[in-house]
Amino acid sequence: MAFAIMIRLLVACLPVACLRAPPPRPNFLLLMADDLGIGDIGCYGNRSLRTPNIDRLAREGVMLTQHLAASSLCTPSRAAFLTGRYPIRSGMTSARGHRVLQWAAGAGGLPPEEITFARILQEHGYVTGLLGKWHLGLSCSSATDFCHHPHRHGFSHFTGLPLGMMGDCAPPGGVWPPPPHLESWPSEKRAVLEQRLFWWARLFGAGAAGILITAVMMGSIIGHPFRLRVAAAILACVLAAVAILASVVARHAGELVARADCFLMRGAEVTQQPLRLDRVTDMLLREAEVFLSLHSDQPFLLLMSFLHTHIPLVTKPDFQGRSRHGVYGDNVEELDWMVGRLLSILDHLGLTENTLVYFTSDNGAWLEAGPLGGSNGVFRGGKGMGGWEGGFRVPGVFRFPGVLPEGRVVDEPTSLMDVFPTVVGLAGGALPEDREIDGRDLLPLLRGETPHSGHHILLHFCEIFLHAARFVQRDAGKTWKFHFMTPNPDPSTPGQACPSRGVCPCVGDIKEHDPPLLFELGADPGETQPLLPGAEPALFEALHAVQREHERVIEGLGPSGTVRQQLGTLYNVWRPWLQPCCGTWCACDLE
Ligand SMILES: *[C@@H]1O[C@H](CO)[C@@H](O)[C@H](O)[C@H]1NC(C)=O
Repeated sequence: MAFAIMIRLLVACLPVACLRAPPPRPNFLLLMADDLGIGDIGCYGNRSLRTPNIDRLAREGVMLTQHLAASSLCTPSRAAFLTGRYPIRSGMTSARGHRVLQWAAGAGGLPPEEITFARILQEHGYVTGLLGKWHLGLSCSSATDFCHHPHRHGFSHFTGLPLGMMGDCAPPGGVWPPPPHLESWPSEKRAVLEQRLFWWARLFGAGAAGILITAVMMGSIIGHPFRLRVAAAILACVLAAVAILASVVARHAGELVARADCFLMRGAEVTQQPLRLDRVTDMLLREAEVFLSLHSDQPFLLLMSFLHTHIPLVTKPDFQGRSRHGVYGDNVEELDWMVGRLLSILDHLGLTENTLVYFTSDNGAWLEAGPLGGSNGVFRGGKGMGGWEGGFRVPGVFRFPGVLPEGRVVDEPTSLMDVFPTVVGLAGGALPEDREIDGRDLLPLLRGETPHSGHHILLHFCEIFLHAARFVQRDAGKTWKFHFMTPNPDPSTPGQACPSRGVCPCVGDIKEHDPPLLFELGADPGETQPLLPGAEPALFEALHAVQREHERVIEGLGPSGTVRQQLGTLYNVWRPWLQPCCGTWCACDLE
């Protein structure tokens, strides 16, 4: 009898009953990795990489298995994360241009009118900090207007990279000798710039030579006037000078791009240009420690936006060669170590009980990077590849001792955009009422008070184009996925859909599907076997519901059906007058 009561008590105590109500104004430590794949983490099924600290978070909290980025690339995904809205609503997209912000000195970025959860919390008395990668723009029309800067978006503290990691951040023979394992890193803009400049150098060089030869011939054959010959000689000299300048600049393209994009800012000051990759990991951890200890007695929100595990995969010597998966694996294990450090700082400061910790990645692993990219587990595709699951399914772990259950696994579809209403709700703030918020408060789902997330439809955009969508058929317990467009894979490198471009396009060289490709994710999470469109009558209704939802989002953009495209070519080119610099030659180290 007593035993039965005990059992009943235990059972009653298991799920929701024993949870305490969330305390007022708790702290938030949000951890976001860069390009980390869901298949890279132990608790999500990786058996050969060691991620004990992320696994510990999952054991002590709630692990989401169907957590979805709002875009398969960083800039739009991060914009959606911070605003709780599809990137298409803020214009953090392009129609035919680039898919991410390309330059720190471009004019595009998260529009100042957008409201981030950081801003709401800041207005609500929180201190708010961002450490690491931003990649949502800096300035609009002068190098110091900082219209897109983290300060403008609710972060009172910012130390990090305004853009983010790129292959270009590791210049060969730059200001510091790159560690040997960095030398062969695929560089992005550097190569393009080099190529273009050399092309211009050749063009101008040939022009100069042509004019010189013509002038000499004209002079000797028909005795053209002296003045004309002098003019031709001057023109030839100018062209030759341009050619020489272009080739000199091209030769140093790597270092110039590194200075233009890979620099460290503290607030509005550039403090290290270019960035010292070998020091940045320790520096960010130190900053986090200082932030947490300084603000341990007031409500805080800290977004730790890791540079890991994006190339150039900077890993401290202690972690080099330690994993079983090369330099990428080393970087994942170091990331996990950083997570562990942050958790132990929380423990030491006695903050664990009152802090919600969240861990995620901005998008799936980058398969085109080959062994330098991660794994998306069973999911098809990866970063940038249309609406395939691999680019969207990311890790999602929430821990809040006593407020959230321990070791719970939730399979419902949830989104990075849900963090917005969840954080705002817990902090006691109010959601903006003048705009559409696409995220849903996760707290009831995480606590087990409701079996369902607020999403029965999620749209998977590739830039402004609807590539795919999922529909949850609750009565049947099925999750359907429609693909309206998919990338056109290059058969030469299976798995890496667009090896020559690095990232697949959203329009142009893609496949359109009418009727859409159809999968049931419960039975076929790897999207391997397309189903027949007539598979179930309920599907017509589902497809209509998806189309209506898409129309609703487009109508919400206003009468023109579009907003200013922040990643469009016009805003996404280098504007010299927007370039933040320190020192005389955009080179300094004040750290
Ligand atoms: C674990 O991660 C590594 C590195 O991304 C990957 O090569 C390996 O396939 C993963 N293992 C599993 C079981 O997913």
